Amino acid sequence: MPKDSLTITDNRTGKTYEIPIENGCIRTDALRQIKVDEKDFGLMGYDPAFLNTANTKSAITFIDGDRGILEYRGYPIEQLAEKSTFLEVAYLLLNGELPTKEELDEFTHTITHHTYVHENVKRFMEGFRYDAHPMSMVASTVAALSAFYPEAKNIKDAKIRRIQMMRLIAKMPTIAAFAYRHSVGQPYVYPDNELSYVGNFLAMLKKIGTNTYKPHPVLERALDVLFILHADHEQNCSTTSVRTVGSSQVDPYSAVSAGVDALYGPLHGGANEAVLRMLREIGHVSKVPEFIAKVKSGEAGSRLMGFGHRVYKSYDPRAKVIKRIADEVFEVTGKNPLLDIALELERIALSDDYFVKRKLYPNVDFYSGLIYEAMGFSADFFTVLFAIPRTVGWVAQWEEMVLDPEQKIARPRQIYIGPKRRDFVPLEQRKK
Ligand code: ACO
Repeated sequence: MPKDSLTITDNRTGKTYEIPIENGCIRTDALRQIKVDEKDFGLMGYDPAFLNTANTKSAITFIDGDRGILEYRGYPIEQLAEKSTFLEVAYLLLNGELPTKEELDEFTHTITHHTYVHENVKRFMEGFRYDAHPMSMVASTVAALSAFYPEAKNIKDAKIRRIQMMRLIAKMPTIAAFAYRHSVGQPYVYPDNELSYVGNFLAMLKKIGTNTYKPHPVLERALDVLFILHADHEQNCSTTSVRTVGSSQVDPYSAVSAGVDALYGPLHGGANEAVLRMLREIGHVSKVPEFIAKVKSGEAGSRLMGFGHRVYKSYDPRAKVIKRIADEVFEVTGKNPLLDIALELERIALSDDYFVKRKLYPNVDFYSGLIYEAMGFSADFFTVLFAIPRTVGWVAQWEEMVLDPEQKIARPRQIYIGPKRRDFVPLEQRKK
């Protein structure tokens, strides 16, 4: 019977060590016993960007990138996208189980009745320049919420913790909508708690004057499904930022604002915008083979944006769902003229050896930008549309971290490569 352990021989000393394997991992802490002599600090792992380091145990989201599987609390994303709603999925991510009817009603009531922000939050947002990027506004405003809810720092108190989590999920659409209205110079629209989570968000974006805006049910459902698809994605860059900042035991508003900042980066939340730019640059279906050839030759670092993923080495399961939603949305809005170029790109790439060999498939961003654009959103708002649902994942992961007895303040090690110790040189003796 093979043992669940790893035997390591240190060729510097000839000593052998046995390290336990648990959940397919070794604890890198166990390497510290491997020393050349007593003064030696002990062996560490070197893993820039955490390519092969698990930072936590988590019971929230499961991904199998080789098989294209994404599950929230064990439920396949395809089933949730087809049969569930965003708030039901939010409840599932936060609590581990699907809600009963009463639980869902209560949760929906709580979320849709914490949508208002303090009037001074509105004034705070009014202070931004007319051309402020909506993501900068959202990140700063989320951070500012900690000044409005000082009790939020009591993160050990379950009741206080939960109310801040609800506030974050409930107020994010309001803050996002205010950021949008600010950027187009229109008055902010207060939330309507009688509408659905997504319906209220759309109303706060689109309502003009006193008219009673009613979102198209197909578009409302499409956005709800897109929110389900973006709700969590385990230990990605922004979630890791939330956990890392939160590990100092700061309040959740400060931790989540770090997540919004991380998402703002073009390598994380900004790829769908790049897809649209690429499709526009290609301009016509007939130019697709030429573009593919340019990507394959590596000319000027060209990449097929919206293709490839660090984790998925097969079709991103979210991209499949999004493709279906795109058809439904275009029935209502009319087809986005860039769709034909996207479909042709996908057709050629999926049968081309270059992409097949490297396991490059469409990711979640390949079609989402087309849908958002058809729904009337401008490209700089796409990342905000990602931040709203991801707030659920951030707070679920934040609370899991707070409750995990194994977690401590995040504090990686380094390999020092700077100068050796030297004596201070007085200013007048320094040479250029
Ligand atoms: N187009 C063309 N070639 C690609 C692409 C692409 N989109 N992605 C990867 N490759 C090639 C690389 O050139 C490399 O080829 P080589 O082995 O000949 O050098 C090989 O595939 C492996 O690529 P890496 O960069 O090592 O893969 P990594 O896992 O680091 O990158 C990433 C993943 C960043 C997503 C990459 O595929 C990419 O840049 N895609 C386009 C941007 C994009 O769509 N990002 C959104 C990701 S989803 C999200 O964050 C929500």
